[in-house]
Amino acid sequence: MTVSELTYTREIEEATAPIFERVANVIPRVEWPLHAPYVAAINRLKRERNAVILAHNYQVPEIYHTVADIVGDSLALAIEAAKTDAGVIVLCGVHFMAETAKLVNPEKTVLVPDLRAGCSLAESITAADVRLLRERYPGVPVVTYVNTSAEVKAESDVCVTSGNAVRIVEALGAERVIFLPDEYLAKYVASKTSVEIIAWKGHCEVHERFTGADLRRLRVGDPTLRIIAHPECPPDVLAEADYVGSTHGMIDFVSSLDRRETTPRVVLITECSMADNVAGTFHDIEFVRPCNLCPHMKRNTLAKVLHSLETMRYEVTVPPEIAQRARVAVDRMIAYGRTPQA
Ligand code: 13P
Ligand code: SF4
Repeated sequence: MTVSELTYTREIEEATAPIFERVANVIPRVEWPLHAPYVAAINRLKRERNAVILAHNYQVPEIYHTVADIVGDSLALAIEAAKTDAGVIVLCGVHFMAETAKLVNPEKTVLVPDLRAGCSLAESITAADVRLLRERYPGVPVVTYVNTSAEVKAESDVCVTSGNAVRIVEALGAERVIFLPDEYLAKYVASKTSVEIIAWKGHCEVHERFTGADLRRLRVGDPTLRIIAHPECPPDVLAEADYVGSTHGMIDFVSSLDRRETTPRVVLITECSMADNVAGTFHDIEFVRPCNLCPHMKRNTLAKVLHSLETMRYEVTVPPEIAQRARVAVDRMIAYGRTPQA
């Protein structure tokens, strides 16, 4: 890509004008000349490479609203990755999401814009840890959050996301399950089922920073505020929430709010970009924005997405013997589908 191709020309301005209209309430007009040349180049290269861009709900608006073909929560991205006809998948999210896309598409090229986009939950547990737990609790099914490495998935019976954890734990029909690695999601699932949950001590470095006291302060200022929280938050946070669910469930909840007579005020207790992206879709809702950034999700930028498509880097692969076993756990998860309202 030459520098002249990345300047904001009249031609690029006109070609990207309809895209800008979609993001005008979340991306300031003065910033558009910086993004538009990348948007135009990425959208052109996607066609040339027969590539599809899958973006998680936490991606910045300039990725989420302008170049992504499919956006969603972890479950939606896994399901859509399994369905795509494209030869190349660029996964704008974090590494475990790209690995999951590769597991369900072994023959396709899966790229990430930045290989360092990890996840504190995925880092919190190893395959050896899971083997030790199996020795300690023989015969107890291992249910693993999708926010884990392929090696950990390979040691598991079934994967879950926050969009189907409750459904899958109940469907297993076991009296108790080992639920890894998110301690708070495990506690949330335990509160929704009578299944005994053996948990691990993994935490999301973003969601664990919210506190119940933060939310009580917000409510005092505005008693009509609707509080919507992700189940990776600590229990005292979830206790204050009007709705708890995956990022997909949060969007559904927001879309169900009655906004005929008054403008609802909503706070999304999750990663920062989520509110920007949802605000880009729902212009008639006011979002209060306490902001905790996921540094891993934020490693992806338009410049890196373009670089990825130009150089076909960075490819994510999984060794075949691991992939074969990990895929069984992911395929089982996809077959269960979503918990209603999650
Ligand atoms: P969702 O599956 O709800 O999108 O969550 C993924 C994640 O990483 C949340 O931190
Ligand atoms: Fe991992 Fe938390 Fe970032 Fe999600 S928000 S990718 S769980 S660190």
